[in-house]
Amino acid sequence: MRRLNRKKTLNLVKELDAFPKVPESYVETSTSGGTVSLIAFTAMALLTIMEFMVYRDTWMKYEYEVDKDFTSKLRMNIDITVAMKCQYVGADVLDLAETMVTSADGLVYEPVIFDLSPLQREWQRMLQLIQSRLQEEHSLQDVIFKSAFKSASTALPPREDNSLLPPDACRIHGHLYVNKVAGNFHITVGKAIPHPRGHAHLAALVSHDSYNFSHRIDHLSFGELIPGIINPLDGTEKIASDHNQMFQYFITVVPTKLHTYKISAETHQFSVTERERVINHAAGSHGVSGIFMKYDISSLMVTVTEEHMPFWQFLIRLCGIIGGIFSTTGILHGIGRFIVEIICCRFKLGSHKPVLLPDGHVNNHLPLITDNRLNSISSK
Ligand SMILES: *[C@@H]1O[C@H](CO)[C@@H](O)[C@H](O)[C@H]1NC(C)=O
Repeated sequence: MRRLNRKKTLNLVKELDAFPKVPESYVETSTSGGTVSLIAFTAMALLTIMEFMVYRDTWMKYEYEVDKDFTSKLRMNIDITVAMKCQYVGADVLDLAETMVTSADGLVYEPVIFDLSPLQREWQRMLQLIQSRLQEEHSLQDVIFKSAFKSASTALPPREDNSLLPPDACRIHGHLYVNKVAGNFHITVGKAIPHPRGHAHLAALVSHDSYNFSHRIDHLSFGELIPGIINPLDGTEKIASDHNQMFQYFITVVPTKLHTYKISAETHQFSVTERERVINHAAGSHGVSGIFMKYDISSLMVTVTEEHMPFWQFLIRLCGIIGGIFSTTGILHGIGRFIVEIICCRFKLGSHKPVLLPDGHVNNHLPLITDNRLNSISSK
């Protein structure tokens, strides 16, 4: 009786030890048990690899809140080339308070050639391609956010050819600080002259025939400059068909806090709608020819955070995969074998007990826990 008890305990302990003997079971049996184990381990390996890839991946989380910061100034980064000589054009900002922003002095007027060099053309085409893709596929924005600072600067490369043509255009670039209220940045004929009730542009000296507001926006952004981020207007080129033409851009700026694994920055995204028309007072189309950018600042702030599965979660999911497959295949195999036994070996049903082999092994074809439990229950 004691021997029997000892044997029972020994068997129990051995049954607990069933898992490390898996390779042996492969050798012992090439039937269902081994096959199921093989399938189970293949599935485990595949799912573990897939889970690891999910773990490696990151995603963007968007949160919205009301922007309470109205006092600070907003930085506006500009790089626009207009097909007019620098002495003829002037750029400045008017905001809702009708105060002229004096920091428009921060802009540099540089005489350049309007036509791009072949290399620059290629750069512009690439930028336009990205823009069109961005409009179709919004998830691309996440990729751009993630790769910000990683990728090369998206600024226009310098001319590679030493063209001797005289400069016919004016590149206005630099940055200025504006109030966080709706405003209007514009480039029109003549330099701006401050005026007690706003400002005026001294345009009387410029002939209408030299008006040409064809322009290229190489860069326009708000907030901190972040290389690698492509803004909606970057790469835009507009050719004016008429001397008196008005280009309008209506911009809604959304303050955006960006937290990725590479950077943490306060930037601003924006959306644009554009409109252009020919100024013809005789035909009732009034206005001032030039480039007008009306911006408005959204009161909602977006926080974009790059997220990652924490390591502990990865471990838990891994345990879930391994344990889950382990027990599920065990149960399935048990059921399968049970059905097979019912169908073809009915007589064996009553004597379903583990058989002890001479070397002390339990004749247990199944390395799987559930099956062992079944066996131990039936052997009691
Ligand atoms: C303005 O300049 C561009 C580029 O040089 C040119 O293609 C266009 O025809 C000009 N428009 C007018 C109205 O002169």
